[in-house]
Amino acid sequence: MSARPLIIDCDPGQDDAVALLLAFASAEEFDLLGVTAVAGNVPLARTESNARRIRDLAGRPDVPVYAGCSRPMVREPETAEYIHGPTGIDGADLPEPSRTAEAAHAVDFLVDALSATQEPITLATLGPLTNVALAIVKNPAICGNVREIVTMGGAMGLGNVTPAAEFNIHADPHAAHVVFEAGVPLTMIGLDVTHQAIATPPRLEAIRALGTAPAAAVCGMLDLYGEKNIEAYHHGAPMHDPCVIAYLLASELFEGRDMRVDVELGDGHCFGRTVCDLHGRTGAATNAHVLQRVDADGFFAMLTERLARLPVDPI
Ligand code: RIB
Ligand code: CA
Repeated sequence: MSARPLIIDCDPGQDDAVALLLAFASAEEFDLLGVTAVAGNVPLARTESNARRIRDLAGRPDVPVYAGCSRPMVREPETAEYIHGPTGIDGADLPEPSRTAEAAHAVDFLVDALSATQEPITLATLGPLTNVALAIVKNPAICGNVREIVTMGGAMGLGNVTPAAEFNIHADPHAAHVVFEAGVPLTMIGLDVTHQAIATPPRLEAIRALGTAPAAAVCGMLDLYGEKNIEAYHHGAPMHDPCVIAYLLASELFEGRDMRVDVELGDGHCFGRTVCDLHGRTGAATNAHVLQRVDADGFFAMLTERLARLPVDPI
């Protein structure tokens, strides 16, 4: 099977970092055209430099990194240092990146790559959807060259950053609205699924036992991210963003249903909520494949096996 053309948009973030490592370790399955960074968990200056740090850790200097939007489309910026720490990847002590980001803005890279491509490109989004939404606004025709968007965001049930909303959507709900209304094949991986994939101590020990620099960095990040999640949510580190890459690698590990999803843009308690019409009560056409279950043991077995493929000590 030929490698899938892929662009990853992210806001590293410990879980973004693990997702990037999983993708970097899967060069046979992914023709990774670029990584675009967006403001989210921490400001853009950190998310884009963190993406470059993780690129070095994976030994993948071939993958360009682009800095994107530093703020949401409409609302005031929101970050999540309360759960990720001030660097965004607290727990990993990674050196300064070896290479700069590309000169082009991430939105321009997305538009140019999707305009010129001979083969539809998959977009994996791990943070707020600002970059992707603005690329669609700038040139709507690019949607015809998007194979699918697989996005970590939203929830059928409770939120995390508010009782009703999940962070990636809440941080830029207007961008999410643009993407969910774009008519592009869309798979939504929300909190209902990612909270089934918790990095428990036995699962972390299996990764730590790999004995490599990437494995040590992953465990350092997830140890801290887990502590912060236990403080805030009384459970360990959910593998939010790695589920996106895992779905692209092994969709058989997941189950979901097509349904209508709307993003609440009105002020109030439900601002930024993904309203998931599981039972078709609105009669509206479906616009997303919403995942509901994951084989967590199968997910972690694959993650650990793939992390083992990364260079032992690339930095
Ligand atoms: O709500 C979880 C999501 O928000 C994850 O992508 C995490 O990295 C943050 O971006
Ligand atoms: Ca993220």
